[in-house]
Amino acid sequence: MANSFTDGKTRILAVASGKGGVGKSSVTTNLAVALARRGAAVAAIDADVWGFSMPRMLGIDRPPEVVDPDAERPLMIPPEANGVKLISMGFFAREDQPVVWRGPMLHKALEQFLTDVEWGDPDFLIVDMPPGTGDVSLSIAQFLPRAEVVVVTTPQLAAQKVAQRAAYMAKKVNLAVIGVIENMSWFRADDGTAYELFGAGGGQELADDLGVPLLGQIPLLPALREGGDDGHPIVVSDPASEASVAFARIAERIHVELAPKRIYRPELRIT
Ligand SMILES: Nc1ncnc2c1ncn2[C@@H]1O[C@H](COP(=O)(O)OP(=O)(O)OP(=O)(O)O)[C@@H](O)[C@H]1O
Ligand SMILES: [Mg+2]
Repeated sequence: MANSFTDGKTRILAVASGKGGVGKSSVTTNLAVALARRGAAVAAIDADVWGFSMPRMLGIDRPPEVVDPDAERPLMIPPEANGVKLISMGFFAREDQPVVWRGPMLHKALEQFLTDVEWGDPDFLIVDMPPGTGDVSLSIAQFLPRAEVVVVTTPQLAAQKVAQRAAYMAKKVNLAVIGVIENMSWFRADDGTAYELFGAGGGQELADDLGVPLLGQIPLLPALREGGDDGHPIVVSDPASEASVAFARIAERIHVELAPKRIYRPELRIT
């Protein structure tokens, strides 16, 4: 398999969490759109086979187009919304039918998503990972050994322990964790008071444990959930909100500060 995902141009971000419901898909979606708003070409794979929530969150309601269905390996054109091209396991499953994905099927499906989709040459490929360790993580590590893992957690110390699992998973399959995003950090009332409903400090503590930066903290915001429910990500519908500003800053840190360092080769210097 050779494409821009393997040859170095595209940065792969695998967004992981130790357990469900911490806002991984919301964070993945808004981070993808925030990167696109910075001018980056962004592709996304919704690899959370038990969740596939990204199409709805991103505002996509059509499956990929198949270019030449009779070809031996037909190419798929990924649908795009809010500047992000997306392929989701959900496009290939019926909502009313639970899918029982087994390891080899998942592996094959992921490989197809990487090779048979007309992605162009994106700057970023963001992957919404299923929670926990497992087959998908192994497949991602095998297909995309350069993937950088971002761990999402909540401020609760208990949740942070669970999120550590995602980091162990990354370590086990030899992927680099580049940072932590804390979600649901506080709720800000109309009078400006921030209420730390789920405690405080979990994101920073996990980041310290892993020796990586805490990339940002996302507040609890009803509009963020509503935006996810109706396909208008908050970073687009309300870019001035506290959550959107936090996403923009996280996108900037990943895009600029955490950009892979160029290797200095003196022999290439122009004199
Ligand atoms: N910062 C936030 N403010 C308000 N609502 C949020 C926030 N983050 C997530 N939510 C809401 O919480 C719910 C769970 O979020 P999401 O689906 O993104 O989590 P997840 O970790 O991907 O869950 P799953 O394990 O089910 O895939 C959703 O309804 C989402 O809209
Ligand atoms: Mg999800």
